[in-house]
Amino acid sequence: MPDQRGGPDGLTSLDQLKARTMACRECPIGEFATQSVIGEGKLKPKLMLVGEQPGDQEDLQGHPFVGPAGKLLTRALEDAGIQRAQVFVSNAVKHFKFELRGKRRIHKSPAVREIVACQHWLEDEIALVQPAALVALGASAARSLLGRAVPVMANRGQWLPRADGREVLVTLHPSALLRVDPEDRETAIEAFVADLRQAQRLFRR
Ligand code: URA
Repeated sequence: MPDQRGGPDGLTSLDQLKARTMACRECPIGEFATQSVIGEGKLKPKLMLVGEQPGDQEDLQGHPFVGPAGKLLTRALEDAGIQRAQVFVSNAVKHFKFELRGKRRIHKSPAVREIVACQHWLEDEIALVQPAALVALGASAARSLLGRAVPVMANRGQWLPRADGREVLVTLHPSALLRVDPEDRETAIEAFVADLRQAQRLFRR
């Protein structure tokens, strides 16, 4: 059974999580982002999906997975038989990390120390949302959820246990699929959908 205890910071609402992460300067990312972006979706869901960090659109709009990777994720979930409204979607890191190239803000992957610094906020979120199980979208999410480096390609489609008893399904990040050569992309998306179907089984119970 999932751990029913509160998160590390004793928060009682997602509004509190938003306010506390907005003010967070435990790592340098927050200073440059527009705002923190916390998760959204169904509470007490069968599934909570965790990505890496908000992207450019998410940072501007304040909502998770609303840009190109989010559109791909929503479509893949539907193809796997899961409606986005049935799940909670969030990120391991709550601020957008980028470098400026001219006027463009280019995504930069968070460093391990930044993922670790943000981990307690994700644990607070899990404690508030109370998902039955989790999906790690990519290596940053897997590291945060499982507390160690997880080789994604070797573990994709597998359920790995967390200390709190919840299982984590490991798969790729949808952004990785957007970087696949166009002629190979549909095959890569089909493999991603096949991973997500492992989680669809939870909805039949
Ligand atoms: N990539 C992520 O990991 N999360 C988002 O919210 C958007 C893109």
